[in-house]
Amino acid sequence: MKKIRIPLENRSYDIIIGTSILDGGNTEVEEVASLIKKRTCLIVTDTNVGRLYLDAVANAIRKSGAGSVVTCTFPAGEPSKCLDTVKWLYTRAVEARLDRKSLVIALGGGVVGDTAGFLAATFMRGIGYIQIPTSLVALVDSSVGGKTGVDLPEGKNLVGAFHQPLAVIADTGTLATLPDRELRCGLAEVVKYGVILDASFFAYLEANAARLADPAADVYPVIVNRCCEIKAEIVRADEFDHGTRALLNYGHTFGHALETLSGYGRFTHGEAIAIGMSMAAEVANRRTPCTTATELMSRQDALFEAIGLPTRVRGFSPQEILVAMQTDKKNEGGRIRLILASQLGAAGIADDVPETMIIDAVGARCD
Ligand code: NAD
Ligand code: GLY
Repeated sequence: MKKIRIPLENRSYDIIIGTSILDGGNTEVEEVASLIKKRTCLIVTDTNVGRLYLDAVANAIRKSGAGSVVTCTFPAGEPSKCLDTVKWLYTRAVEARLDRKSLVIALGGGVVGDTAGFLAATFMRGIGYIQIPTSLVALVDSSVGGKTGVDLPEGKNLVGAFHQPLAVIADTGTLATLPDRELRCGLAEVVKYGVILDASFFAYLEANAARLADPAADVYPVIVNRCCEIKAEIVRADEFDHGTRALLNYGHTFGHALETLSGYGRFTHGEAIAIGMSMAAEVANRRTPCTTATELMSRQDALFEAIGLPTRVRGFSPQEILVAMQTDKKNEGGRIRLILASQLGAAGIADDVPETMIIDAVGARCD
């Protein structure tokens, strides 16, 4: 077991990382028992994860001395990350008589974590919650840092709140049941950390690319630890996303546009982000033509190919992708803000890229 602290004054918490937390041992769950004792706990999960882990988690929480345990399961998938689901959860929370001391437990991938986190951020003006991430995206990114929210038909994550969890219980053993496609998608966010901030981690992923298809490979505890360390450092430095935290959005302005245009059904989040990172590399090569930018793009493409992630998109014009990018909430004063890296491990924010250059770069990845 390993602990990574997120030091945020009275909002500080631990990420507890282990390999068999949810299979009956539960020693790490006991670590957070003091948070749970005597409280009403509302466990939120989705249909896929609930089938696999809800009983074990509910039992562990009961054993930890919760006052009562109520469960809510919604249909798996990005379309559930919406205000209708939150409204349904509010009703369930009232019916279950949650009070301001009650806890929400988010058990699942990023969709469950973001939605249940938003419930906790807003119900009775904010109650506590614990993240139990079960997808690779959630283990390395979405469960940490307190960004909660839902999508609107008009755009991804357009409604939300910052609300830090009280703890994150990260069991890398849950990767064993994750579908192959979802494991690959999580690797898009993993590669992102290497590109933006840690060239040697990127090289580690390249050296171990052949083992990444095996969720039981011993690379995964290393990957989850390193990504959580990087995320902890970024969140510590910029909790409310005024500066360096934006680097975590590398590829996301393009990726979110693709998710919005496709109605949240065609791509997984990770696939859209992999294509978005490929488009970002094309922009960087036009804005700062140099050997390091070219090397970054070809190594990033090669790593995505080895993992089995897409780097191109079919069926959209560069112009419509640009229009969808204009609703991104990171834009300022009508200008598109992009995260660009002209060398591995060193990304920055750019808000002065001409639209013609964006269209040209996006077009290079559209079929
Ligand atoms: P997801 O939650 O939809 O999970 C992907 C699929 O895997 C779902 O079908 C889910 O039921 C299933 N699943 C999850 N864990 C499983 C397991 N252990 N075994 C079997 N099936 C399992 O999607 P995701 O990729 O986890 O997360 C994507 C979402 O996260 C997006 O909405 C994205 O915007 C958000 N996100 C948020 C942040 C943040 O900082 N809050 C960061 C990154 C991504
Ligand atoms: N995943 C983006 C962030 O946490 O800021």
